[in-house]
Amino acid sequence: MPNRLSNKVAIITGAANGIGRTAAELFAVEGAKVVLSDIDAGGADLAKQLQQQGLDVVWQPCNISNETEVAELIEATLSQYGQLDILYNNAGSEAGDGNLVDLTTDDWERLTNNNAKGVFLMCKHAVPALLASGGGAIVSTASIAGLIGGPVLHLYSANKAAIISLTRSVAATYGRHGIRANTICPGFVHTEMVARLGEGAIKAGEKMSLLGRGAQPIEIAQTALFLASDEASFITGVHLPVDGGVTAV
Ligand SMILES: NC(=O)c1ccc[n+]([C@@H]2O[C@H](COP(=O)([O-])OP(=O)(O)OC[C@H]3O[C@@H](n4cnc5c(N)ncnc54)[C@H](O)[C@@H]3O)[C@@H](O)[C@H]2O)c1
Repeated sequence: MPNRLSNKVAIITGAANGIGRTAAELFAVEGAKVVLSDIDAGGADLAKQLQQQGLDVVWQPCNISNETEVAELIEATLSQYGQLDILYNNAGSEAGDGNLVDLTTDDWERLTNNNAKGVFLMCKHAVPALLASGGGAIVSTASIAGLIGGPVLHLYSANKAAIISLTRSVAATYGRHGIRANTICPGFVHTEMVARLGEGAIKAGEKMSLLGRGAQPIEIAQTALFLASDEASFITGVHLPVDGGVTAV
C-alpha cells in the first residue's frame, strides 16, 4: 500500500470531475483520509465508489463561494477525522468568460465567486484548522492563464493571477506556523473544462506545448500529491507551471 500521505487528512474541492476526481482517488490510495467536496452532487457517487474500494473518504457538498458552506465543510472534516492537514483548492471554472467588450460586471462577479473568492474563503476557514493540527499544506490551482495573456480568458486570467498572489501571501504569513502554500499552474489538461473550449482551442494549446500534447489529469494530480506531501517539506510560496513547457518559451 503506498503511503505518501499516511496519517494526513485532506480536503479536495471540485472533487467530482476532472483533475479533482483523479486526485481524490490518488490521495486516498496514498493513505490520506479525504473529504471530497463539490457543487456537483456526482461527488457523492464517487465517494461511495472509493469507499467500496476500501478507501477512507467522505462526501461533503460545498460551493466554495458560499461562506456558510465553506465553514460547514471545515466543521464536517474536523468532526469526521479530528484534524486537517491538506487543503487542495482545485475547484474552479472558466464558465462565463468571453470577449472583453461583451463582459458584464455580473460575469466578473460570477467568475470571481467560483475562483479567487472561493480560494480566499477556503484558505480563511482552513487555516485555523491547519494551525490546530500543527501546520499543513495548501495546494491551490491557478493556470498558465494566470501567468501569460491570451484571448477570451480575461476574467479567468485575472482570477488565476489573484489565486497565485493570495496563495503566496498565505505562505508568507503562515510559514513560521508550519503551513506551506503553493500553486500549480496547469497548461491544457484533457478534462471537461478543456472540452468546453472546443477543438480549435485544444489544437492551439497542444501546438504551444513543447511536448506536443495536453496533460492527462493524473499528471496534475501527481504534482498536487507531491506538493501536499512531506517530500515537498522545503517548498513554499512557489507557483509551478505544469504545462508541457508552454510558458518556457
Ligand atoms: N483543464 C485544464 O486545461 C485546466 C488548465 C488550467 C487550470 N485548470 C484548473 O484546474 C482546476 C480543475 O479543472 P478541471 O479541468 O478538472 O475542470 P472540471 O470542470 O472538469 O472540474 C472542475 C470541478 O470544480 C467544480 N466547481 C466549479 N465551481 C465550483 C464551486 N464554486 N464550488 C465547488 N466546486 C466547484 C465543478 O463542479 C467540477 O466538478 C480548475 O481550478 C481549473 O481552473 C484546468
